[in-house]
Amino acid sequence: MNRLNEKIVLVTGAARGIGAATASALAEEGAKVLVCDILDAAGAALAQSIRDQGGESLYCHLDVTRENDWTTAAQQAAQHFGGLDVLVNNAGIYLGKSFEEVSLAEWQRLCDINLTGVVIGIKSLLPLLRERASSSEHGGAIVNMSSVAGLVGAATDPLYSLTKGGITLLTKALAVDFGQRGYRLRVNSVHPGAVDTEMGRQTFAARAKALATDDLEIARRQSIDAHPIGRLGTVKDIAQAVVYLASDEASFVTGASLAVDGGFTAR
Ligand SMILES: NC(=O)c1ccc[n+]([C@@H]2O[C@H](COP(=O)([O-])OP(=O)(O)OC[C@H]3O[C@@H](n4cnc5c(N)ncnc54)[C@H](O)[C@@H]3O)[C@@H](O)[C@H]2O)c1
Repeated sequence: MNRLNEKIVLVTGAARGIGAATASALAEEGAKVLVCDILDAAGAALAQSIRDQGGESLYCHLDVTRENDWTTAAQQAAQHFGGLDVLVNNAGIYLGKSFEEVSLAEWQRLCDINLTGVVIGIKSLLPLLRERASSSEHGGAIVNMSSVAGLVGAATDPLYSLTKGGITLLTKALAVDFGQRGYRLRVNSVHPGAVDTEMGRQTFAARAKALATDDLEIARRQSIDAHPIGRLGTVKDIAQAVVYLASDEASFVTGASLAVDGGFTAR
């Protein structure tokens, strides 16, 4: 239960879904967690429930597209916890629209959150991460939430696939760059298969539309069938992968794309 003892971690998009499960799992392993989101009530409630269970957590309003919010989050991490060891870039959105349907305004928003949000986040927190990494035994880590759609093409939302593919390669490029610069920061990405969250349900709706049916159960069944293991992922499946990559158990792992997808991308 102490795989992350004394580590200070910031998780974006942590008010619900995969991010909330990740924040909880990190706290259960002893991390001090800065829960960040734009859903203030849910985010604050999660931080409170972590504290109620004896953990250390604080909520911070953070719209990943806003540089000022990142500056505030960095200040909170420094003032409240004394720095930062791990950044989990989890916040993301999905459109569920075909290439021809997406408007340029929708693409811009997708890009702002899924790509620019990660870029601003890493830029803003790099000084803090480097500072603690220089004195900790195994250094720090960045974990980026990509998707199976960042490894193979997702026909139901090609532009989402584009953003997640960008995250896959940004992760590898920074792993090499930061490694060579001696920053002592590992950078890895996680690639979930379908998980039954708010966004997961949006993917079922997009599948249903592509199948020209209103029956979400048909789409859900088809999604399950695309995972050789025979089920959807759970938020806990994904959270445990983040815990591993954030921990010192992964101290020789950098630039990796960890598929947590029930075999979705194995064929
Ligand atoms: N659910 C899936 O099937 C699935 C599959 C592969 C990858 N993912 C990825 O996992 C991550 C989490 O997805 P989820 O399924 O938990 O989705 P979700 O919609 O349940 O949660 C996303 C969270 O991100 C937050 N968010 C959205 N825009 C934000 C912004 N501008 N700033 C800060 N926070 C913002 C939301 O408020 C929400 O709390 C995403 O990056 C998603 O692309 C999900």
